[in-house]
Amino acid sequence: MNVVVLISGRGSNMAALLDAEIGGGTIAAVISNRTDARGLALAQGRGIPTGVVSHRDFPTREAFDAALAGAIDRYDPSLVVLAGFMRVLTPAFVERYAGRLINIHPSLLPAFPGLETHRRALESGVKIHGCTVHFVTPALDHGPIIAQAAVPVEEDDDEASLAARVLEAEHRILPQAVRWFCAGRLVIAGGRVRVVPTSAGSRQP
Ligand code: GRF
Repeated sequence: MNVVVLISGRGSNMAALLDAEIGGGTIAAVISNRTDARGLALAQGRGIPTGVVSHRDFPTREAFDAALAGAIDRYDPSLVVLAGFMRVLTPAFVERYAGRLINIHPSLLPAFPGLETHRRALESGVKIHGCTVHFVTPALDHGPIIAQAAVPVEEDDDEASLAARVLEAEHRILPQAVRWFCAGRLVIAGGRVRVVPTSAGSRQP
């Protein structure tokens, strides 16, 4: 199963995927909307094909998304993973990959969709924060939830320390979600995701 990973920056979630055993999945390519995304070099160093489709080269979101889809489809993906991909995608793009497009978000959705989740979590005084992997639907940071991990908010946390604790959890649940997807274990019904048991004879643990 080909998996295409989209990034915009550091690429630590992408690296976690590259390091993980993802069952029948193969990371076929890493594509960024930014030429300076640090994760690109990391992927290249691991021998993974990379590509850049810069949003700056396109006059509209629709034109950018169409070009991005063209770059992705060269790899015939079963799954597209948004791993720190910082662009809002058009409904047409999301529809094209319906059921095979997932995102990692640094909060316990539906709390704190959007940006600056760690700052907002600290300001709101929550004691538990975390991260979510979900199927992507046209509404931003919405969509059926595949996996979540909770982390405590400590009294002396600042944005950086909280982000670091959440990031560790991201690096656990994103590979887990991809592994489940690639093993055919995710079923969406009524807006909820069920993780079905491993079928007999499957290679999954
Ligand atoms: C992660 O916290 C991810 O959840 C968010 O952006 C950050 C990307 O980090 N959407 P990285 O590029 O995976 O290191």
